[in-house]
Amino acid sequence: MSDPKTGAAPGRLWGGGFSEPLDPVIERYTESFSFDRRLLRADVAANRAWVAALRDTGVVTADEEMRLDRALVEIGEAPPPRPHEDTGDGAREGRPLFEDVHTYVEAALCERVGADLAGRVRTGRSRNDLVATDLRLWCRDEIAVTRRALAACVAAFADLAERCGTLIVPGYTHLRRAQPILLAHQMLAHAERLMRDDGRLAETRARLDACPLGSGALAGTTLRIDRQGVARRLGFARPTANSLDAVSDRDFVADALYACALLMVHLSQVAEDLILATAEEFGWLRLSDAAATGSSLMPQKKNPDALELLRGKTGRAIGRLAGFLATLKGLPSAYNRDLQEDKEALFDGLDTTRASLEALTATLPHLRPAPERGLADDAGDLLATDLADYLVGRGVPFPRAHRLAGEAAARARADGLPLDRLPLAALREITPLFDPDVFQWLDVRASVSRRACEGGTAPERVAEGLRRARDWSEQRLTLSRPPEVESDVRR
Ligand code: ARG
Repeated sequence: MSDPKTGAAPGRLWGGGFSEPLDPVIERYTESFSFDRRLLRADVAANRAWVAALRDTGVVTADEEMRLDRALVEIGEAPPPRPHEDTGDGAREGRPLFEDVHTYVEAALCERVGADLAGRVRTGRSRNDLVATDLRLWCRDEIAVTRRALAACVAAFADLAERCGTLIVPGYTHLRRAQPILLAHQMLAHAERLMRDDGRLAETRARLDACPLGSGALAGTTLRIDRQGVARRLGFARPTANSLDAVSDRDFVADALYACALLMVHLSQVAEDLILATAEEFGWLRLSDAAATGSSLMPQKKNPDALELLRGKTGRAIGRLAGFLATLKGLPSAYNRDLQEDKEALFDGLDTTRASLEALTATLPHLRPAPERGLADDAGDLLATDLADYLVGRGVPFPRAHRLAGEAAARARADGLPLDRLPLAALREITPLFDPDVFQWLDVRASVSRRACEGGTAPERVAEGLRRARDWSEQRLTLSRPPEVESDVRR
């Protein structure tokens, strides 16, 4: 039903001053309905709140409000059309059906309540304040879903740490053997990072808690709209403070993308640790077949593809943040169409992060510790720091203790012995401060047990860390219900 003269799409939101139809190539290039259909529920929620506010100002009657509200609910429940559905209208062949989700909702409303009443909904409102509101609603819901996925992942780390028990493995710095640690300690380190990531998502959620509706195209509205009421109705803490800022503020998108990018960087580091820990050369964790993939050529291979993709997809998450910041950088005040790029960035950033969290949560239960690959009694050089600490206990200043322990390690290496098998006589040639009790220090279990400071790798401290991760995830999983209004439409 396009206008024969202008070729305007059904429900196009402009056209009065236009004498030619939009070039189809430009129409396809500028449309956003193919991806912003996901905002349908959010757009309906924002429209309903706006209609209620219009009733308060007398633009629509109570009866009209009811009719509009009922129609909007229906529109939100019906699946939105496919972006390029063929209407059988030759003029529209190959063209997008709707410019964007807002155009679609208005067109659907026209069908249900007639163009005059549907059109009133647009009073005092622009797509600029509408889209800013929709995207905040979507982001809010999606952050809640991502935080749940994150809590489930922390719970899976707690389970894995528990399975690791008191298995001791070499800890590395510079990817060189450093000091003995509990494998559980390493797994819980990853859980700690994720708990901080949750904090960043929560802060993003808290900062986006203002409602742009009522800001109009850029300058506000002449209507006496109760903006506090609109904000409240949509579950926002307050209305935005400056109309010009409100229509172009996408800080929350950048915040969310940063929170996602850093979270993904953490997942990538997890992936790297697990790829190493399950490799034959390290091998203190085993990946069961359910989480491994084979090779089309080499029959023996079991590859950790999901972990590799976690690492790989991190590049994408970082790219979404960097790309979007570049989009924002040169914008003059108020709304510019460049901002339409916010959606694919935000959708993909959050989708990738959520899917990656879920994939990791599914992988962790398939990891089994291999106690026989743990650090044996002959821990070698890994106990050199303990040797220095022993000398400190005998009153030696640390720099000297460090040098003497280094000499002992070199001597053990030269004699082809692990450090703890070096005879006392050899040790005493380095310094007579070594007594027979030194061998109590040259013991792997004793080494980790002595690191009992808060946050250390001693078993009782690791048990505390485990309890922390366990309590935290349980609390998050029971407190946070899935959001009531799922703003997303992915059909
Ligand atoms: N599709 C647009 C976007 O995503 C909606 C706002 C369009 N506003 C406008 N004045 N053309 O940003």
